[in-house]
Amino acid sequence: MSVIVIWCRHKGDNVIGIHNRIPWSVPSDMKRFRHLTWGKTILAGRKTYETFPNRTLENRRILVLTSDSAYEVADREAHHVIARLEDVQDYAEDIYVVGGAGVYEAFFKNTQVMPDIVVDSVYNGNINVSTQEKVIDVSASVKILEEKYFHLPSVFELDDVETSLWIKKGDFVDQNVIKMILNYLENERTLP
Ligand SMILES: NC(=O)c1ccc[n+]([C@@H]2O[C@H](COP(=O)([O-])OP(=O)(O)OC[C@H]3O[C@@H](n4cnc5c(N)ncnc54)[C@H](OP(=O)(O)O)[C@@H]3O)[C@@H](O)[C@H]2O)c1
Repeated sequence: MSVIVIWCRHKGDNVIGIHNRIPWSVPSDMKRFRHLTWGKTILAGRKTYETFPNRTLENRRILVLTSDSAYEVADREAHHVIARLEDVQDYAEDIYVVGGAGVYEAFFKNTQVMPDIVVDSVYNGNINVSTQEKVIDVSASVKILEEKYFHLPSVFELDDVETSLWIKKGDFVDQNVIKMILNYLENERTLP
């Protein structure tokens, strides 16, 4: 079982969200997310889960991280509440951690579930940051990434977003998952 982080952060300040939304709209980035997680198990913090339309994502099993064990999910068959990060170790399948910031940081700081692979998409466009709204960034996670991961040399640029992979140092990391993600990134321009 591998733990894979997927995010898209803003270049320079590592912002991933403002209040309950992502402050840019890049269709190819949404397509990348959809494609890489299609048919997979994803894990989202409760707040990110509540940003999904109707609290669901087609053809994905969703683990919702919340301290509220009585939390009512939108789809009782496909969505499950988990209360502790360590519980992901009970799953045989790969887990795609999709945010938000608090969840990413908790995974990076927990040696039992520290992510194996990070799909690091960096948005180079402009964003408007209003001082009235809460700005959410992943700088704490990026610091750990730069210390404890190595960066693969290939960088894939599409529509103002640069995507590359980081791999956890010192542990076995499933090469098949790395190959699958790289294969998608190499071909994503031509995929339907
Ligand atoms: N650009 C991107 O790639 C991206 C990706 C995802 C999200 N986002 C953005 O990020 C923002 C949301 O992020 P966020 O950091 O505010 O919230 P979040 O991480 O999505 O959710 C936080 C909630 O998760 C639960 N949680 C977190 N750590 C936990 C732990 N160790 N144990 C148990 N429960 C835990 C808590 O839920 P309870 O309060 O219910 O206990 C906590 O309030 C939105 O703006 C969203 O659009 C951006």
